[in-house]
Amino acid sequence: MIDKQTRIKIAIQKSGRLTEHSLDLLERCGLKYTRGRDQLIGYGENMPIDLLFVRDDDIPGLVRDDVCDLGIAGLNIIEEKRLEYGCDGIMAPYTEVCRLDYGHCRLAFGYPETGARQAITELDGATIATSYPFTVRDYLKRNDISADVVEFSGAVEIAPSLGRADVICDLVSTGTTMIANKIREGETILESQCMLIRTPVAIPEEKTAWVNRLLQRIEGVMQVRESKYIMMHAPKSALAEIRALLPGAESPTVLPLEGVDGRVAIHVVCRENVFWETLEALKDVGASSILVVPVEKMLA
Ligand code: PRP
Ligand code: ZN
Repeated sequence: MIDKQTRIKIAIQKSGRLTEHSLDLLERCGLKYTRGRDQLIGYGENMPIDLLFVRDDDIPGLVRDDVCDLGIAGLNIIEEKRLEYGCDGIMAPYTEVCRLDYGHCRLAFGYPETGARQAITELDGATIATSYPFTVRDYLKRNDISADVVEFSGAVEIAPSLGRADVICDLVSTGTTMIANKIREGETILESQCMLIRTPVAIPEEKTAWVNRLLQRIEGVMQVRESKYIMMHAPKSALAEIRALLPGAESPTVLPLEGVDGRVAIHVVCRENVFWETLEALKDVGASSILVVPVEKMLA
């Protein structure tokens, strides 16, 4: 039995594009868990956190209803459910905490290659198949297009060949699904990525310290993914130029070099990836012995 008062519940996708990334993120935050026999719940061993493995479509609802404190899902499904719940008069069903750095995809129109309609300007009177009826209807309304929307819970891309739709509107990640079904990708109506959401209800005091700690660690994990620790020797006079070449770098540590005049060792954390062009530019302003190493953990 999960203790709601002291254990934090997080809803994540059971199996799909986001599952592995979401588990990886939580593991990088230090979470160790065992998965129960029913496979639906992962029990945190070293933190008061339990994972609920569910369909991504159910995640916004579980967070809205405060069954889970936190949820990780794509903006696509969060936005769809927000529009759906909006119809019930609930304006802010959950709070968006932060964007996560994975799960990038887009909700886009798809036009069958042999179809008569090939652009949004030709959608009046069309039938559009989608798993995102609220988002699509909202888009059509805002753009003054009158078309019929038919809801498919999956395999939207086969709707045109079944004669059920003229056009589709579906998620595109790599684009291979549409291509395989001879559908040309059209206009994007929503850019999506993974998001962390939280319950609209106040989280019990016993849990807030761990929630805050987890959020801080998630931020740290995301920063670290791109961050590099850079070491180099350089003329002390070039310090300003070097800092300008490394945006996102914190105040550098400057150390004297034994027995060398005018040159110093510079150590700096750069919160973005560092490319060869940057190293070459650093060399041009006088830097040498440049080392770039990945950062394992970071706590701001
Ligand atoms: C989406 C979408 C397509 C596929 C597109 O499904 O419905 O089937 O991904 O990806 P591609 O452009 O890389 O081929 P999703 O992963 O959201 O699964 P679900 O609808 O079962 O949740
Ligand atoms: Zn889904």
